[in-house]
Amino acid sequence: MCGIVGGVAERSITNILIEGLKRLEYRGYDSAGVALVGQGQILRERRVGKVVNLESAVTEAQILGSLGIAHTRWATHGKPTENNAHPHVSDQVAVVHNGIIENYQELKQDLIALGYHFSSETDSEVVAHLITEALKSGAPLLQAVEQIVPKLKGAFALGIVHSDYPDELIAVREGSPLVIGVGIGENFISSDQLALLPVTNRFMYLEEGDIALLTREKIEVFVQGQLVERPVKELDATVTNTSKGNYKHYMLKEIHEQPEAIQQTLSQALNGNALREDFLKDAVIDFNQIQQIQIIACGTSYHAGMIAKYWFEQLIDLPCQVEIASEFRYRSPVIVDRTLYICISQSGETADTLAALRDTQKRAAAKHLMISTLTICNVATSSMVRETNHHLLTLAGPEIGVASTKAFTTQLTALMLLVLKIGQVKQTLADSVLAEIAADLWHLPKVILAALQKDASILGLSELFVEKNHCLFLGRGTEFPIALEGALKLKEISYIHAEGYAAGELKHGPLALVDNDMPVVILAPKDDMLDKLKSNMEEVQARGGELFVFADENSGIQSQDRQHVVKIPSVSNWLAPIVYSIPVQLLSYHVAVLRGTDVDQPRNLAKSVTVE
Ligand code: G6P
Repeated sequence: MCGIVGGVAERSITNILIEGLKRLEYRGYDSAGVALVGQGQILRERRVGKVVNLESAVTEAQILGSLGIAHTRWATHGKPTENNAHPHVSDQVAVVHNGIIENYQELKQDLIALGYHFSSETDSEVVAHLITEALKSGAPLLQAVEQIVPKLKGAFALGIVHSDYPDELIAVREGSPLVIGVGIGENFISSDQLALLPVTNRFMYLEEGDIALLTREKIEVFVQGQLVERPVKELDATVTNTSKGNYKHYMLKEIHEQPEAIQQTLSQALNGNALREDFLKDAVIDFNQIQQIQIIACGTSYHAGMIAKYWFEQLIDLPCQVEIASEFRYRSPVIVDRTLYICISQSGETADTLAALRDTQKRAAAKHLMISTLTICNVATSSMVRETNHHLLTLAGPEIGVASTKAFTTQLTALMLLVLKIGQVKQTLADSVLAEIAADLWHLPKVILAALQKDASILGLSELFVEKNHCLFLGRGTEFPIALEGALKLKEISYIHAEGYAAGELKHGPLALVDNDMPVVILAPKDDMLDKLKSNMEEVQARGGELFVFADENSGIQSQDRQHVVKIPSVSNWLAPIVYSIPVQLLSYHVAVLRGTDVDQPRNLAKSVTVE
């Protein structure tokens, strides 16, 4: 949700900033801009559209500078126009901003009264003018920033430069992610460390409320004017592999990385067919006490939570609620003693999930309730990981494609591991069942690999979707959330309207939509619900609907007129939703490619939604 990159160095950093923006483009891609300090002035270029447009403009203008900030935007306040693109400039100050300044209207009125002219419709421009105003008192740049930050309400990360301070880059973190990349004789900032991997693998993670001053030689971090220490962490090489390799899109690469990613997730928890002694060891006391689970998440992560509900309740008899974070945070839910609150988030920065977590913690503390919190996340350094009592990393490696694939299946894998652990601690899961599921989990990467080999058949089917405008996905039990996820994948990257339904609900509404032109995707593992699902398939066929069935190879379901079947390798019932994620991902991918959409960066979306 907007990406920031900035740096201060001896060499020109123009290309570093542009490369950084390209790596941040998953955060927003409606416009981009850069401001460099050179010859005592701010040199700025901004362009609507993708970073390549900015790159051409910068190459043509040949702007160079060793201090600068850059931004890729996902519009919140004001349309994606050049005037609204960041950096915003006020006199000698340039600012990039990620997040939302909630009280900007009020601040803007005050600044207009003081004679400031606004050239954009954004909330961000107020920051630049506020700094210019604060500098009038004679305060140096850092102090001026420290003075104005308390006036801003909302969640934000800022990068700031001034043409009279050619060796100073100022960074502010207050509710939106920002990391410092530590170099040798040069230092950088970014919304995501991924952007800085070409220049460093050493990072300092800012905390909420931090204001940092970066020069070529030093980094100083202040909290309310007091110098504080923030440790520098070194990343290992596995985290830094972010190239597309030989794949046409990140999404395709990430789909194919799933067997390995799941293997990684498993390795931290399993020792043969048993759980490792050290797996979530620090959480055992809390797990012993909890009496129910509340999962909070958004988007694809929410679908992972929906599946975990079946597992928690059926496997280990533990009540589990799942709710979309944007609803949970505003409806003042009752906070129940002895509840484990689980945040599921690929990024660990999603604004609604984070706000729901913080609000829950605050309300539980006010009532002296014993709750525990746990994050399932792909980013070890994220806010959610830092702010929950416990965490379980998915270890999927960076996911760049906006449509989540390997992050989802590793979340499911991690959730199953968590179910096993809690069941073991609370003695509600027989050792034999634990060992059986552990054995199935070890086998899972191979089953996924076999499912990936169905790619050619799925590509063949995808051609039949290209001209369609609508599509239904149906499943029962843990395949119901996969139906929702399949519909989400298809709509977000191919722009075909798609809906996921519990197959049992078919006759309560969606059947009215079924006609010759409505493809219906069915998820049919061989489980207790298979016969009921077959009846639902007949209901669709009787109305002329065309069926696309991902069916267990032993389900007995065969291709026939207007019924296309792709046989999916057999898998235990518990793990079926993980395996059936693969065909729906591949289907959406191929349909999107055939329709010519931007698969990795679908219109209007962003990977990390750090604003409301
Ligand atoms: C955005 C992304 C989705 C993701 C959702 C939640 O909508 O496009 O892929 O599922 O945010 O993100 P999180 O990082 O919290 O899992």
